[in-house]
Amino acid sequence: MPMRRALIAGNWKMFKTGAEAVDYVRDFLPRVAHAADREIMIAPAFTALEKTAEALAGSSVALGAQNLFWEAEGAFTGEVSPKMLAAAGCRYVIIGHSERRQHFGETNESVNRRVRAALQAGLKVVLCVGETERERSAGETFSVLDKQVRKGLKSFVASELDELVIAYEPVWAIGTGKTATREQAEEAHAFIRTLIANLFSAGMAAGLRILYGGSVKPENIAELMAMPDIDGALVGGASLNPEAFARIVLY
Ligand code: 13P
Repeated sequence: MPMRRALIAGNWKMFKTGAEAVDYVRDFLPRVAHAADREIMIAPAFTALEKTAEALAGSSVALGAQNLFWEAEGAFTGEVSPKMLAAAGCRYVIIGHSERRQHFGETNESVNRRVRAALQAGLKVVLCVGETERERSAGETFSVLDKQVRKGLKSFVASELDELVIAYEPVWAIGTGKTATREQAEEAHAFIRTLIANLFSAGMAAGLRILYGGSVKPENIAELMAMPDIDGALVGGASLNPEAFARIVLY
């Protein structure tokens, strides 16, 4: 089985100005200077990207954005293109986060267009999937994940998806303090990996990094990372504090 390098990513959501991001990075970088065996990514708001990129320059911490629009440029008021993100210093972009699906009308179809545009622009994609509490209670977890992955990656072939990462983020565990048990997370991750093997190839599935997201904290990261199909974490609230996020990175 190919080695999958752990990726610990911080999704700052709608927090931190550029100046606050710079303060954070100054505090954070020395704390993670020796974490070379794992990859770190932080995803600030659009307005903080360039300042954060400057502060991260020379470090191995990657910059990510939280969303993008699929067109390269044009009359699309309020939107940001893949090319703009790359020029701002982004290597990653998060796509299809449940908050975008819930509050901003993101669908599997729009997610698919965003994934394609991002990869074409040379950005690495963190594609988010996950079931709601109602869907889990109704026994629909796997069918929801199946649909989100299948439609989100519709009409791709394996060779186009080298730079894909999937994040499993059960909606009921986001910002609630209610982490999925490591068994629940592992079961979902293994399901996604098998699905990728069936849809694309066994080789792609074996190399694919699948992150867990939902109330990840310094106290629970180690037990999650001990599971065979959990290759990293997408951290919201706890990534806002450099000390806490560094402890998660160094689990
Ligand atoms: P929390 O870590 O705050 O639960 O958020 C998870 C998340 O949504 C990361 O994208």
